[in-house]
Amino acid sequence: MSKVLVCVAWPYANGVIHLGHMAGSILPPDIFSRYNKLLGNEVMMVSGSDQYGTPITVSAEKEGVTPEVIAERYHAINKKAIEDMEVDFSLFTKTHTENHKEVVQDVFLRLLENGYLYVKESNQYYCPKCGKFLPDRYVEGTCPDCGAENVRGDQCDSCGKTFEAGDLKNAHCINCGTEPEVRGTEHYFLKLSAFDKQLMEYLDNKDFWRPNVKTFTTNWLKDGLNDRAITRDMDWGIPVPVKGWENKVIYVWFDAVIGYLSASKEYSKIIGKPDYWKGFWQDPEVKNYYFLGKDNIPFHSIIWPAILMGYGGMNLPYDIPANEYLMFRGGKLSKSRGGAIDIPSVLEHFDADVLRYYLSAVMPDTHDSEFTWTDFETKVNNELASNLGNYWHRSLSFTFKNYGTVPEGNDAETGHIIGLIDVALKEYKECLGACDFKKAIKVVMNLSSEGNKYFAEKAPWALIKTDKVACGHVMNATLTLTKALALMAWPFMPKASETVWDYLGVGCSMIDAGLDSALEPMAVGVQLKEPVPVFKRIEVPKEWNETSEKKEAPKKKEEKKEITGPFADFRKLDIRVAQVVWIDDHPDADKLYQMKVDVGEDEPRSIVAGLKAFYKKEEMLNRKVLCLKNLKPRKLRGIKSEGMLLAADDEDLGGTTVLLLKPSKDMPNGTQINSGLENSESKIEYEDFVKVNLKVATINDGKFNIDGGKDIDLPDGSPTRVVAIVDADGKLLPLSDGKDCIATVDRDIMDGANVR
Ligand code: MF3
Ligand code: ZN
Repeated sequence: MSKVLVCVAWPYANGVIHLGHMAGSILPPDIFSRYNKLLGNEVMMVSGSDQYGTPITVSAEKEGVTPEVIAERYHAINKKAIEDMEVDFSLFTKTHTENHKEVVQDVFLRLLENGYLYVKESNQYYCPKCGKFLPDRYVEGTCPDCGAENVRGDQCDSCGKTFEAGDLKNAHCINCGTEPEVRGTEHYFLKLSAFDKQLMEYLDNKDFWRPNVKTFTTNWLKDGLNDRAITRDMDWGIPVPVKGWENKVIYVWFDAVIGYLSASKEYSKIIGKPDYWKGFWQDPEVKNYYFLGKDNIPFHSIIWPAILMGYGGMNLPYDIPANEYLMFRGGKLSKSRGGAIDIPSVLEHFDADVLRYYLSAVMPDTHDSEFTWTDFETKVNNELASNLGNYWHRSLSFTFKNYGTVPEGNDAETGHIIGLIDVALKEYKECLGACDFKKAIKVVMNLSSEGNKYFAEKAPWALIKTDKVACGHVMNATLTLTKALALMAWPFMPKASETVWDYLGVGCSMIDAGLDSALEPMAVGVQLKEPVPVFKRIEVPKEWNETSEKKEAPKKKEEKKEITGPFADFRKLDIRVAQVVWIDDHPDADKLYQMKVDVGEDEPRSIVAGLKAFYKKEEMLNRKVLCLKNLKPRKLRGIKSEGMLLAADDEDLGGTTVLLLKPSKDMPNGTQINSGLENSESKIEYEDFVKVNLKVATINDGKFNIDGGKDIDLPDGSPTRVVAIVDADGKLLPLSDGKDCIATVDRDIMDGANVR
């Protein structure tokens, strides 16, 4: 067991943190620290609100309140948002504290004493109209390096270059637009130039750093280091601990990076072990990790190491896995791009776990990545709910329902599954050890896919009828994988994983069990709990979407020939065996496919269906389906749809599965599946279709598993999952060709799932 220090860039307390902060610098360290805890490591993870400097005072002036009001308001909001995202800091503090002030002043005085700080008169922007100095963000202009416009006085957001007063082109005062003068004023300077050689050496063995971090830092060093002013002419900040300097404060970046140390000390005091931090900062064996967005690289790879070198006896950053940007609507994700992207608003609609999943799946770890709400919806529904959520739920609910406790396993089944886990676990550790989060979550999802494949192949719902013991062996293996997936998913989706862990009745915490317990078979006889699906399908509010829905005009009803008698509503439907012969994405709708479907006529029909979240194109092409042929043609987002593919959906029962209906036998396209009853020629409306109560259920000894389980007659060799009509007076009629082909589904789904 080793110690790991996880440092997280401090968000400015001048606004509400959003998805960009989460993906860029806050979620990765939480995944990393949880992973380390599962390995048995002792983790200290610290951060807080960055409350000083011009980011805060500029916002305060805009609102006409004191900087403290802004700093405290957003600290409270962001601290809560971080907790609500299930990010588990040892301490998330703030810079406006007595402790931080003491630690910063101590570092300042030590550097002064060691000869690394000196006073120099230097040029600063000064606005003659406002009559004051214009530090950092009070001036904007054009970047002399990359030409980006409206960049701030201290750093260019586009190329990352940092500036001294006078560097910007076309500089202007943000308050009045006046071109500022440059005036002499005295400041303390950090003698960065003294650390040139030491920093080169420090960088020498950092080949494992991400290329962007290493390259950026090397280029900075190559240019030679300039000493930097670390005080400012303003009054919101940490006082300079020197007599005569009462009108100036310490520069926000100098105080903020020291926050990692001050927060470690504060946490140590809180837990009653005031020297606890030393184990993380002074033991050279302990690795210190820093997580941040790429605009923060030089402060962590050059300035902070220099400060630490000047202070002496402290660990330098071991790795600085800086992320690129999360892009949204054509630019770096930020408040100004609109949309409800701040954490509290997003959490009003979605669970932390699904956000954490999506941000992990698109994490901008080596390249900028794109965030869209439609992609969010697709990935959550298609990957998280349909794959992992489905696997967890079907394994837990089937075993709970049929066994109640963990059934006995055998070497063949459980051994096979543990083999799969072993391979995945090795890859997972490699990825997470290297802070490759996007790849690690992919490993988890692939393992879950394997689980679903195993489950479908073993068909326990059938096996249990012939051999309950053998089925138990399969379920023991299945649950062993459920447990492994709970452990491996925990760093990413802690709440859902803990819920699944609890259903499994393991008895100790995941951290106590440890990651390698993923390779242990489930203990036989342990009482299971009744599970509820942990992931539901989601829907993003329409107005958040990139393309807004076009509403179709309501259609006029057509006159119809009346059909009466038993199963009257059903007899209005014309259901046929059909086959998908061509498929592509709908060009204007993210959830829809457009298809050509052969329903046994001369020409295939054009059909549009919202199946993208559940089936891949390859899975659709050439497969047999059941098609409602006489549904009135309609246009879906501009493309004609002449019929509907029937699918079962257990959402009303709390499930997350959507499965296409299919014939139990390979029947020619166009074969009618209307139970031998005559049917209407006329076109029907969707409302007419939903009047028919079509459900999927398991057949047990000739009994239908829902609605009282009445006897039902099926042709020999029928599958056990059947689709039947439930008539108003409770009569059941399986959907069939009237002979030996019945309607069924691809795999297991909850009893009572509706067909739509
Ligand atoms: N507040 C800075 C930002 O949001 C990050 C500060 S990181 C620290 O860009 F280490 F200096 F705290
Ligand atoms: Zn001005």
